[in-house]
Amino acid sequence: MPISLTMPLDVAALRARRAGTRFGAHIEYFAETDSTNLVAERLARSGAGEGTVVIADAQTHGRGRLGRHWVSPANRNLYLSVVLRPPMAPEDAPKLALMAGLATAECVREWCAQVRLKWPNDILIDGRKVSGLLAEMGMEGERLAHVILGVGVNLNIEIEEFPEELRTKAGSLLHATGREVDRVAFTDRLLTHLETRYQQFIGEGFASMREDWDALSSLHGARVCVEDTRHRYEGEVLGLADDGTLRLRDAAGNELRVVAGDVSVVDGYAPRGS
Ligand code: BTN
Repeated sequence: MPISLTMPLDVAALRARRAGTRFGAHIEYFAETDSTNLVAERLARSGAGEGTVVIADAQTHGRGRLGRHWVSPANRNLYLSVVLRPPMAPEDAPKLALMAGLATAECVREWCAQVRLKWPNDILIDGRKVSGLLAEMGMEGERLAHVILGVGVNLNIEIEEFPEELRTKAGSLLHATGREVDRVAFTDRLLTHLETRYQQFIGEGFASMREDWDALSSLHGARVCVEDTRHRYEGEVLGLADDGTLRLRDAAGNELRVVAGDVSVVDGYAPRGS
């Protein structure tokens, strides 16, 4: 194994690259922490400004969507959270995760052209999940005070390092390309992509990037089943609507709009690498 795979992040080099930017001009680094989202949440509650970044080389309680665990071994991958203070209503905040998924996929694409988005927030290469997003809102009364945007990207982890039950589903850039990823360079590019798309999102809304999101979607034309805690929908994927909901055509030809849920492709049919 190359020596750099076992090395901590060169945070001084990253800080030098991020000087003068909005995302990452202030970086809190930890060799190990519970969860970068939890640390960022604590910082936001004590007044940390927009663009404050928390990075850890390992997480003991990496958190995924729907209460799941995020595998976070030391010095392999990227575990990062950004404090956002978007001037928007709480009901619009879920679209931030879609924006961040697009920005992350665009960054991953610089290392691997086969990257695809799977609604709502998964990033896949050859059907394996290489990245996930966890956006968590902090409220002050009725007002959205901040959003913690957590991004996990599997960079240099080997498939054998995942728990057995994930070894057919999870992937990494190392696995996909056979090449080790420079974590400083990747993190710098990711923060640049996030900053650019966030500014666009604040200025022009999610609708202005919907076509770019659709162009990277793995689900176009797929027959899918979407489940949340209360509903189950089945249909053909037509794409995203301007508000970030998933458009499906059901068996009767009606168009449905799905707000949230877990997507699985029916019959394993996956036209673009989901
Ligand atoms: C998912 O389930 O797909 C979301 C995974 C999000 C993982 C990242 S790693 C950095 C940040 N800190 C966490 O505890 N979770 C997010």
